Amino acid sequence: MNDDIERYTPSERSNHWAVAVLFILAGLSGLALFHPALFGLSALFGGGTWTRILHPFLGLAMFLLFLWLAIRFAGHNRMNDRDARWLRQWRDVVGNREDRLPEVERYNAGQKLLFWVLVLSMLVLVVSGVIIWRQYFSAMFGIETLRWASLLHAAAAFVLILSIIVHIYAAIWVKGSVGAMLYGRVSRAWARKHHLGWYKAVVRERK
Ligand code: HEM
Repeated sequence: MNDDIERYTPSERSNHWAVAVLFILAGLSGLALFHPALFGLSALFGGGTWTRILHPFLGLAMFLLFLWLAIRFAGHNRMNDRDARWLRQWRDVVGNREDRLPEVERYNAGQKLLFWVLVLSMLVLVVSGVIIWRQYFSAMFGIETLRWASLLHAAAAFVLILSIIVHIYAAIWVKGSVGAMLYGRVSRAWARKHHLGWYKAVVRERK
C-alpha cells in the first residue's frame, strides 16, 4: 500500500539475503567437514576435496558481506536503559503483552542482543578459520594454537547456527517481518505495534 513505510532499501535487502545464502552454504560445507556422520553433505559441493577447498572461501565471503551489513546496522543496535527494562520484562515479551513494554526503537532489545552475538561469533569464526586454513596459513602457527583455534571455530559455529535458528523463528513469529526483508516495506500498524519509537521518528522526519 502507498501508506506503507520503507524499512529496508534494496541494497540492504540484497546484502542481507546474500549473507543468508552464504550462511547456508558455509554452514552445510562446514558440517560436512565436522563429523563423518555428516560427510554425505559434501556431495552437494562436488565431493570431499571440493568441500575442503570451497568452505573457507564461502566463510570468508559470508564474513565480508556480514561486515558490510553489520556496519550499516550497528548504530541501530546500541543498547540503552530502555533495552535493559525490555529484557527484564521478558515475561511480557513472550506473553505477547507488547503494550506493557518500553517503547521500542528500530530494533528491540532481543534483536540487539542477537545482533552482537552474531558479530562476536562471526569475528571468532573468521580469526580461528584463517588460523586453521591449511592451504595458506596454518603452517605459520604452533599445534597448541591450531587446537584452540579448531575448538573455538566449532564453538562459534554452534553459537551462530543456534542464533540464526532463533532469528528465523522470531522473524516468522512477528508477522510482517519477513515481508519487510523481502519487499522493503511495512504497514504503519506493524511499525506502531512493534517499533513505536522508530515509527514516531519516521513520521517526524516526514513532516
Ligand atoms: C536464512 C534465513 C533468514 C531469515 C528468514 C532472516 C530474516 C530476517 C528478517 C525478517 C529481518 C528483519 C527484522 C526486522 O526488520 O525487524 C532480518 C534482519 C536481520 N538479519 Fe536476518 N534472516 C535470515 C538469515 C540471516 C543471517 C544468516 C544473518 C547473519 C549471519 C542475518 C542477519 C540479520 C541482521 C544483522 C538483521 C538486522 C537486524 C539487526 O540489525 O538487529 N540474517 N532477518
